[in-house]
Amino acid sequence: MSGFVTLGQFIIEKQAEFPYAKGELSRLLRDIGIAAKVVNREINKAGLVNDILGDVGTVNVQGEMQKKLDVYANDHFIGALTSGGECCMVVSEENEEVNHIESPVSKNAKYIVAIDPLDGSSNIDVNVAVGTIFSIYRRKSVEGRPTMEDVLQKGTEQVAAGYIVYGSSTMLVYTTGCGVNGFTLDPSIGEFCLSHPNMKIPKDGTIYSINEGNYKCFPDGVKKYIKYCQEEDPATHRPYTSRYIGSMIADLHRNMIKGGIYIYPTTAHAPQGKLRLVYECNPMAFILEQAGGRATNGYQRILDMEVTELHQRASIFAGSENMVLLAEEYMRQYSPLEKAVLC
Ligand code: AHG
Ligand code: MN
Ligand code: MN
Repeated sequence: MSGFVTLGQFIIEKQAEFPYAKGELSRLLRDIGIAAKVVNREINKAGLVNDILGDVGTVNVQGEMQKKLDVYANDHFIGALTSGGECCMVVSEENEEVNHIESPVSKNAKYIVAIDPLDGSSNIDVNVAVGTIFSIYRRKSVEGRPTMEDVLQKGTEQVAAGYIVYGSSTMLVYTTGCGVNGFTLDPSIGEFCLSHPNMKIPKDGTIYSINEGNYKCFPDGVKKYIKYCQEEDPATHRPYTSRYIGSMIADLHRNMIKGGIYIYPTTAHAPQGKLRLVYECNPMAFILEQAGGRATNGYQRILDMEVTELHQRASIFAGSENMVLLAEEYMRQYSPLEKAVLC
């Protein structure tokens, strides 16, 4: 046997460390890994096959134009979770309401999955990295149809979370609360192989990512922090480098490896922030914290935020711990919560 460990082997080995685990979570993670490979195959064909690029002509619950691949990825992830039998409910960016899975094997399953099937989908038509984000909760009710209480759980209640980045290579990164591990898809054997064991995000970094086109409408704390990033100071390696891909997954994956901060603050167009708490911010916050990073809304830990709506939005400051701490200090000083004003 050669030296590599596949995602499937790794999941089974980890399960063996928990003698009372019955394997449901392992099977759920395996189902997500399989769906990721199918979606990856279609993404890689974008450009070759005419009927997968472009808009469907419909808008999702957020009022955003759906791409054909948004819909494809959504259908495939939900399909894999439905046939896998370990998930009783799916919350997706692409569906206004929850998806109950009511087959005899699934309806009393223990887990609920929240997904952003395709993150950064506006980049798909131009061959730039996109991603998938997932978050797994254990239902609170014991059986029958899961309730809203089952799904509106705080980020601290997540039992697992992960992302797939479809970039120059395809990677799946996940945590079950015991560190973070990354797997790279080897296309020659069609397997995710452990390539980034025990990932740790650097405590400091020199890259900041934010859509500066919205600068005029940023809170003062964010404006001052950006000025700080741009100042000349060789001792602190400033000015920092600005990088903004427009796929949060790709920006945050780069930060995971190189260090950096990603900010999507409140703006005039997005007074609560743009990104969604349940299937974008919470899973990324869980992964970042498990890797030694930090994720807040500028004032409060993302994972502690109350969840009141499926598609709730949040502002996010995420990445290297010391960078996020400093940005929060700017927020406290120049945009104190009680005086938060939008332009
Ligand atoms: P999605 O494609 O799932 O709707 O998410 C897009 C998100 C995020 O990935 C990205 O960083 C951000 O929106 C980009 O927004 P702006 O174009 O407003 O910068
Ligand atoms: Mn997204
Ligand atoms: Mn999306």
